[in-house]
Amino acid sequence: MMHIINGKEVAQSTLLKLETMIRCIEASLYRAPKLHVYRVGEHPASMIYTQNKLNTGRKIGMDVEIIALPEEITEDALMHLIKKDNNDPKVDGLIVQLPLPDQLDAYRITNAIVSHKDVDGLTDGNLGGLVSQSSLLKPCTPLGILELLKSIHCPLRGLDALVIGKSCIVGKPLALSLMSCGCTVTVAHKATKQLKEKVQASDLVVSAIGNPNVIQPQWFKKHAIVIDVGINRLDHGAIVGDVDYQQCKQAGFVTPVPGGVGPMTVAMLIKNTVLACCHQHDLMDLYYEHFGEAL
Ligand code: GUN
Repeated sequence: MMHIINGKEVAQSTLLKLETMIRCIEASLYRAPKLHVYRVGEHPASMIYTQNKLNTGRKIGMDVEIIALPEEITEDALMHLIKKDNNDPKVDGLIVQLPLPDQLDAYRITNAIVSHKDVDGLTDGNLGGLVSQSSLLKPCTPLGILELLKSIHCPLRGLDALVIGKSCIVGKPLALSLMSCGCTVTVAHKATKQLKEKVQASDLVVSAIGNPNVIQPQWFKKHAIVIDVGINRLDHGAIVGDVDYQQCKQAGFVTPVPGGVGPMTVAMLIKNTVLACCHQHDLMDLYYEHFGEAL
C-alpha cells in the first residue's frame, strides 16, 4: 500500500511552531527575525521562488525583504551589500538566489556571507561542517527531506539509500546527512552506470535529476521510500517531478510534486533564519524549547 507524504501539511505544522517562536523572539528583541533575499535580474523561476519565500515568511510574522538588483550589477557592488548585511545586527539571515548572471561568480558571492547568517547553508564553512556534524546552518532542501522522513517515523539506520544528483545544494549535503543517520549511501549522477539496478536495490531513493524521463516507477523495490526533488515543467505547462508518483504502486511512501519537498525547503529557510536569530541573540534556550536539538 503506497502512502503519499503530504509535504504541504508537514511544512504547515513546522510553520505553525515557527510562528509561535517568532512571537517569543519579538517579545525579547522588540523586533521580528529578519531575512534578506537578494535577487539579481528577473530570472523567471527566481521571481517565483523569492516571492514564495517572502510570502511564506511574512505570513507567520517574519521580517522578509527582497533586495531586487539589476541584471548588470557588478560583483564588487553586490559584495559591498552583502558585507554591509554581515555587519548589521538587525539582519539575522541572508541568501542570494541562484542562478546568477554570468558576470557574477556564484561561489565567491555565496562565500561572502558570514557563516552564522548563511541560512541557505551553502558557504564552505557550513557545507564542510556537515562532514564533522558541526555546522549550525544546513542546506534547506536536505533539511526538509530529513523532516519528511521524520514525519513517517521510519528508522533510517541501516537503510540502503540512493541519492541521485551530486549538487552542493541537494545531493552532496543530503548524502552526508543520511550517512550521519546511519544509512548506507550511494550517490548516482549523469555518468552512473546501471541506474535501474541501483534503484531496484534501494530502500530509500531521493531523485534530484531534473528530468521526468529517467526513472521508471516500476523500478522501485517493494515498500521503498521515494523522495522526489525534481521540478519539471512539461510542454503544456504542467509541473511534474522526476517520478510519476501515482504509478509507484509497490512503493511504501512517495512524495508528490507539487506539494512534497518544495514547501519543506521554504519552511526550512524560515526555520534556519529563526535558528540564526536565536544563535546571534543568545536565545538558543528558546529554540531548543520549541524544536529540541538543532537538526
Ligand atoms: N535556487 C534554487 N534553489 C535555491 C536555493 O535553495 N537557494 C538559493 N540561494 N538559490 C536557489
